Amino acid sequence: MNISLIGFMGSGKTTVGRLLARKLGLSFVDLDKVIENKLNMKINDVFSKLGEDYFRNVESEVIKEIISDVNNAVIACGGGIVLREDNIEALRKHSVVIYLRISADEAYRRLKHCNNRPLLKAGDRKTVINNLLMIRDPLYLKAADIVIDVDRKTPNEVVDRIINRLRS
Ligand code: S3P
Repeated sequence: MNISLIGFMGSGKTTVGRLLARKLGLSFVDLDKVIENKLNMKINDVFSKLGEDYFRNVESEVIKEIISDVNNAVIACGGGIVLREDNIEALRKHSVVIYLRISADEAYRRLKHCNNRPLLKAGDRKTVINNLLMIRDPLYLKAADIVIDVDRKTPNEVVDRIINRLRS
């Protein structure tokens, strides 16, 4: 069994993913880290030097390679993984897809000082988050097998809820 975590930036995919993997005795894969290692570049630099389209192509290639290759793993995806239908198809075919759902206000609180999210550099951060989340929330919902609300919850609480939902 594989579990993939999807959701907006700041929803806790990496932190929760690591904890969840440890608790369930699964391995952990952080998709953005795999991309950074493959290109030997930080995500910020991939966006600024090679462009978003380039990043999306690599992201799509890497998720398909990894998800069909790994077993018993938790995979933390980048927030934009749902932008391509074929990515979603691959996730759904090879994993249980869990959407960590965050509100725009909570995402803003968590991301207001962060400087390693290239998409948040363009314009007023609150507006960017609102707009992106409005477009993406339906995509995350459509892709997900399980939806977990993460506002005002600690990573451990989120992990416990995921485990309960997986059991039921
Ligand atoms: C992106 C989210 C980032 C990273 C890239 C693009 C997005 O991952 O993949 O900056 O489009 O939402 P996180 O969700 O882990 O921050």
